[in-house]
Amino acid sequence: MPLTSTGREQLAVDGGTPVRKTLLPYGRQSIDEADIQAVVETLKSDWLTTGPKVEEFEQAFANWVGARHAVSFSSGTAALHGATFTAGLGPGDEAITSPMTFAATANCILYQNATPVFADVSFDTLNLDSQQAAQKITTRTKAILPVDYAGHPAELDSFLELGEKHGLTIIEDACHALGAEYRGQRAGSIAHMTVFSFHPVKHLTTGEGGMVTTNNVKFAETLRCFRNHGIDRDARDRQKTGGWFYEMTLLGFNYRLTDIACALGIQQLGKLEANLARRREIAARYSATFRDIPGVITPYVRPEANPAWHLYPIRLDLSRLSANRTEVFRALRAENIGVNVHYIPVHQHLYYRERFGFQDGEYPVAEVAYERLISLPMFHGMEVSDVEDVVSAIHKVASYYAR
Ligand SMILES: Cc1ncc(COP(=O)(O)O)c(C=O)c1O
Repeated sequence: MPLTSTGREQLAVDGGTPVRKTLLPYGRQSIDEADIQAVVETLKSDWLTTGPKVEEFEQAFANWVGARHAVSFSSGTAALHGATFTAGLGPGDEAITSPMTFAATANCILYQNATPVFADVSFDTLNLDSQQAAQKITTRTKAILPVDYAGHPAELDSFLELGEKHGLTIIEDACHALGAEYRGQRAGSIAHMTVFSFHPVKHLTTGEGGMVTTNNVKFAETLRCFRNHGIDRDARDRQKTGGWFYEMTLLGFNYRLTDIACALGIQQLGKLEANLARRREIAARYSATFRDIPGVITPYVRPEANPAWHLYPIRLDLSRLSANRTEVFRALRAENIGVNVHYIPVHQHLYYRERFGFQDGEYPVAEVAYERLISLPMFHGMEVSDVEDVVSAIHKVASYYAR
């Protein structure tokens, strides 16, 4: 292997040989023959949408997470919108959320013409800090949307307590956290409403898709109505009873998930336990080997949490490296490791700055973390050799830049 004048292995970014020949993505779906067959069968059936697969998937999903109701949506974002609508958010209301998330978590508050209020995250998990959130509660606050960042459950007990005390709805954004456990209970069975995403990089995919789970029957009814234009009965329901009458009772959307997607979802659900186990195995391998590398800080897991590991974000200790995050990121990409960054804090996006006048420095924990974050490849289909390539590349790049 080519060495530099200081005896370190030459990085691919400087013309050295990359750790692997082809790019390893940070996330990827796994689709097998049974998945394909299930979709083909549905394509040949009478119902491509609003049919029996939707109910079957929702029921199986509710059972799996341990919730009374599950309502499917066409995406995680649509599901979040369903949840903010159902929580009754409207003009003049505020909802508190994390800046360390995908923009959709805050956007769904804006869809209801309510105001997103950010509170900073905890240093260890980068999840919304319940004490910071508590300080942002006003008479206008109607909901809190904690996010299970990277798949590590939020401080749900504290948020539910705040909800109880101030009459707020707790909407958990668990788009990273299907299969995560908090005090031994699965995400989806704890908060007032919990939102999931079935985007291809997630634990279970339907292409695009999402779900809201809840134990509240009224919430479930509103969610179902909202995702179907605000109409109180769906087509199959009408066909069953032989009637034609329906009523639009609220202003909803077409946010329905198709039977084609649900057929895929049912199949994927059957593999979820194995997929989670594989992600946990990969996380354990990463954490064990990176723990002792100077300059690399591995994700912290609180004792009450069993994360689902949608992401594996490391933080760089810049005091121990002679490079910044962008340089380390580029070096890893040149080694053909498809790293990514999650997230640019939402308040720092141009739209939020321009609309709300957010300044840098308002949420220092999230902002400082952002400058140091790199998400490593993490998906259940990773081969042992893929994992070892990531391990080699981190060793190579971190030792090159070690101070
Ligand atoms: C935290 C979070 N919330 C919401 C979403 C939106 O989900 P979807 O892409 O299914 O609309 C995502 C998507 O990745 C996400 O990461």
